Amino acid sequence: MVLELSKAEQRLCERLRLSAEAAARLVQAMRAGASSRSAVVLSPKAPRDYVPPFACVDTSAWGWLPPCVYVPCEGERPTAHPDYAAGLYYSLDLSSCWESAALEVVPPPASSLDLCAAPGGKTMLMAARYLPQHHTANEVNAARRGILRQNVEQCGLPNTEVSGLRPDQWATEDKLFDLLLVDAPCSGQSLLCKGIKNPGCLGAQMVNGNAKRQKGIMLAAVQCVADGGHILYSTCTYDPDENEKVISYILRRVPGWHAVEVPALAAFRSTLSDFPCYRLLPEHGFGAGGFCCLLKKTNNNQ
Ligand SMILES: C[S@@+](CC[C@H](N)C(=O)[O-])C[C@H]1O[C@@H](n2cnc3c(N)ncnc32)[C@H](O)[C@@H]1O
Repeated sequence: MVLELSKAEQRLCERLRLSAEAAARLVQAMRAGASSRSAVVLSPKAPRDYVPPFACVDTSAWGWLPPCVYVPCEGERPTAHPDYAAGLYYSLDLSSCWESAALEVVPPPASSLDLCAAPGGKTMLMAARYLPQHHTANEVNAARRGILRQNVEQCGLPNTEVSGLRPDQWATEDKLFDLLLVDAPCSGQSLLCKGIKNPGCLGAQMVNGNAKRQKGIMLAAVQCVADGGHILYSTCTYDPDENEKVISYILRRVPGWHAVEVPALAAFRSTLSDFPCYRLLPEHGFGAGGFCCLLKKTNNNQ
């Protein structure tokens, strides 16, 4: 049976240059809204050798799962367990874990800034991999910042300060970081695949508005990174204007940066760019999907 696509669905699939079969798979996933998959990441409070008290999927063949991340089996409710309330682990989307897999090629940073941090998932994933001497979890939205602070405290993240500056304010600060996380606000097209209503998210107006904001955030972000440092850019949306095109805009406009290959994500390499960046779609089976690209600032001494 041929699937009839709405104009907005067709527009997205054409922009992603999907085959008819791949387009049908994506649209079916967006309409079904059942692609959500959850995961948990252990916090620094978890004792050494701690194993979560619920059944987990065997992920040993995946090759990209960040350290200390577990994927509960269907029907398990990790947030109902007292260990969750005690802050031994944090619950988040599996796609979010996939987006942070690129950190595997980033050497442990001395200082790091999560520019768009609430509610705290990427900060938790980073802390499970390495604990910088100083980490700033930044969130511009005051209400969301409150939730972020609560999560940081509940999971006992050491060396972590919560702040609320805008990206352009960070750009004028006299501080440079080894690693920036830019999990950018976006049109959130993948929410549809989780069964969450998101009116207008496939339309040009919403996509263009977000792309403009993302470019502004990234132009500020590049000014906050020390020589040899990295930015991990990620979104939970599909449109190339908010993903590949944001990165190509930065690479064209700001000298001294390049996109870094991530071997563990090779199977997800985007075909929409001539630089390495990675796309997750619901058909991969690891949640609703997302995009990530790791950027490195050339070390001036090299
Ligand atoms: C995708 S969410 C971040 C999710 C978070 N990194 C996590 O893993 O839990 C994007 C965040 O960016 C914030 N935001 C919105 N507009 C922003 C802007 N202009 N500059 C920086 N952050 C912004 C939002 O309030 C939101 O908390």
